[in-house]
This record gives sequence, C-alpha cells and structure tokens, in this order.
Amino acid sequence: MPFLKAVIKETLRLYPVVPGNGRFVSEDEVVVGNYWFPKKTPFHLCHYSLCHDEDQFEDAELFKPERWLRGDSSRSKSTTGSYNHHPYSFIPFGLGVRGCIGKRVAEMEMYFALSRLMQKFEVQPEPGAPVVEPKTRTLLIPGKPINLRFLPRA
Ligand code: HEM
Repeated sequence: MPFLKAVIKETLRLYPVVPGNGRFVSEDEVVVGNYWFPKKTPFHLCHYSLCHDEDQFEDAELFKPERWLRGDSSRSKSTTGSYNHHPYSFIPFGLGVRGCIGKRVAEMEMYFALSRLMQKFEVQPEPGAPVVEPKTRTLLIPGKPINLRFLPRA
C-alpha cells in the first residue's frame, strides 16, 4: 500500500488533474517575494509548472514513485524536512477552505480500485502504444485514447 500511494502521488505530480487554479484576493494587499500586489488582484497558480520544477523535484520529468517513500534521500535537492520540496509545490487537491471536498473519497476510491485490480491483473499498454502526452481542457486529460491490456495473474 505505501508503494501504491506513492505511485498515485507521483502520477498526480506529473499529471495533475487540475493543472492550474486561481484565487481572487479581494480584501488584502499581498506581498510575494519582493513583489507587492494591491487588493482585488486575481492570482493564477500554475500547479503543473511547480510539479515539473527541477528546483523542487529532482529528475522532475521522471516517474519516480520512490521519492514519496519515507527514508528515500533522493526525493529532492534539499536535505531538510520530511518531504524536501516546498509543501505548496504539490497540492493536487488544492488547499484551504476552498480545497477539494472530495479528496478523501477520491483517494479512497483510487486505493481501493487499484489495489483490487493489481492483485488480479497485470496491466500493460497495448503493443506499439504511442506516447500519450497530456493536454488541458481546464482539467488535464490524455491527448490520445489510452488502451490497456488486463492480463489475469496466475
Ligand atoms: C483525483 C480526483 C480529484 C482531484 C485531483 C481533485 C482536485 C480538486 C482541486 C484542485 C480543487 C480546487 C481546490 C482549490 O481551489 O483549492 C477541487 C475542488 C473541488 N472538488 Fe475535487 N478533485 C478530485 C475529486 C473530487 C471528487 C471525487 C469530488 C466529489 C465527491 C470532488 C469535489 C470537489 C468540489 C465540490 C470542489 C469545490 C470546492 C470549493 O470550491 O469549495 N472532487 N478538486
């Protein structure tokens, strides 16, 4: 289960379902870094870019579920903290009062469905499958259909 959870996290890192998000800060001025933003500034948060940022995740373009396992020292470049990237550089379900209310349900369904499927089937891409790049339709979706083979495990 720890590895399955790590696989799901790594999938959401490389292919975040919600690649961008926004906040409209109506009542407060905001200072980010050395920049000052007046009240009523709309912010667009590009979650996809952060998740692919080499400063946050070593080998950012590689699929490396191990980076989410405790005790793996190769998760990122820093040596401090439990996870070494900035905590807000991976927020696939958003955060705060407008964060995803379905997070726990979605996680539970993914853990449950995948653990059952993986016990019964080996899942492979169809022979000669093309590389499938993601594309945005507000949500991030596959650029082409994904065809998989489910081979029963002995
Ligand atoms: C892998 C599955 C899912 C992902 C990655 C996801 C991601 C997100 C994200 C990023 C947001 C915006 C959060 C923010 O602005 O801070 C959001 C909002 C929301 N999600 Fe999900 N979601 C998922 C599944 C679900 C499910 C299964 C439900 C319902 C059972 C759900 C219900 C909602 C609702 C109602 C909001 C709006 C919350 C608000 O604006 O107050 N989501 N989701």
